[in-house]
Amino acid sequence: MKHTTTFNLPLTDLLTFVKRCCHENLHDNLVALRDHSHRWIHQEGSQDRIVLAEHVLAFIRSIQGHLAHEENTFFPMIELGARKGPALYPIDDLIEDHAELIVVMHKIKSLAGGLEVTPDMTSDCVSYYEKLLDLERLLLNHIQIENQILHPMLQKIS
Ligand SMILES: [Fe+2]
Ligand SMILES: [Fe+2]
Repeated sequence: MKHTTTFNLPLTDLLTFVKRCCHENLHDNLVALRDHSHRWIHQEGSQDRIVLAEHVLAFIRSIQGHLAHEENTFFPMIELGARKGPALYPIDDLIEDHAELIVVMHKIKSLAGGLEVTPDMTSDCVSYYEKLLDLERLLLNHIQIENQILHPMLQKIS
């Protein structure tokens, strides 16, 4: 038997969940990762480490751009739609953004040796890799919740 999950959460509650949980957790992780990346770039270290930190900084800017676009344009459209009737939501563009973010996350992961923690690593390196693993988890959660729950809900009502 096929197992399906249905969500009966009202749209406004789902939006609050996305903003408070998905976005806030991602923002916190990105700020910590940005500070750590800057430290790595300004400390003496291997060229590989600097290259990784520079890629991570560029990735952070892309994710922050995506989150800002959703927070400043998409979410207010949903809030307005909930009061005055649904609008034409830019769902295809956001799904494309999500797919691109996943591709870059994979590139960064492979640049960092799959983010595998090894016994010879310094505690600083372990902590950086843990932040990147947290980023991967938070990013995938964010994408899953929006692509699989929020967007289909909007498509159903529009
Ligand atoms: Fe989002
Ligand atoms: Fe998103």
